[in-house]
Amino acid sequence: MKKTSVVLTFFAAAALIGCGSTSDYTPPADASGEQIFSTACSECHKPLKGDVAMILSEKVANKDALKNKIQNGSMRMPAFKNIQGDAADRLADYLLANSEVK
Ligand code: HEC
Repeated sequence: MKKTSVVLTFFAAAALIGCGSTSDYTPPADASGEQIFSTACSECHKPLKGDVAMILSEKVANKDALKNKIQNGSMRMPAFKNIQGDAADRLADYLLANSEVK
């Protein structure tokens, strides 16, 4: 039930925004991972509870896969080409520390 509504939220958000797009969001130099997530990601990935940002599948629950996902997006998720370097590391660290892995 919970999982279904998360998936439906993804579909609804993707339908509104379109697919295969690129986001030109650029994080401020001193933004924390949490700030980047709440600005750039939470419109689609609504935090599940205070300390749980996302549910990650096992295959993306590592830093390289997360950065790859963020920078390349997917059919339904925009590519964030401007989240690079330290900002990408901070965002990936934040997600790894604040997500449930399924
Ligand atoms: C326009 C909506 C949208 C935005 C904005 C968005 N995402 Fe996504 N994201 C999706 C959708 C839809 C999926 C599920 C389909 C897929 O995996 O491609 C997804 C999947 C993911 C996954 C894979 C989850 C898994 O377990 O396989 C990760 C990680 C992720 N997003 C991280 C982020 C991060 C970090 C940001 C912010 C920089 C972000 N997303 C911004 C729509 C979005």
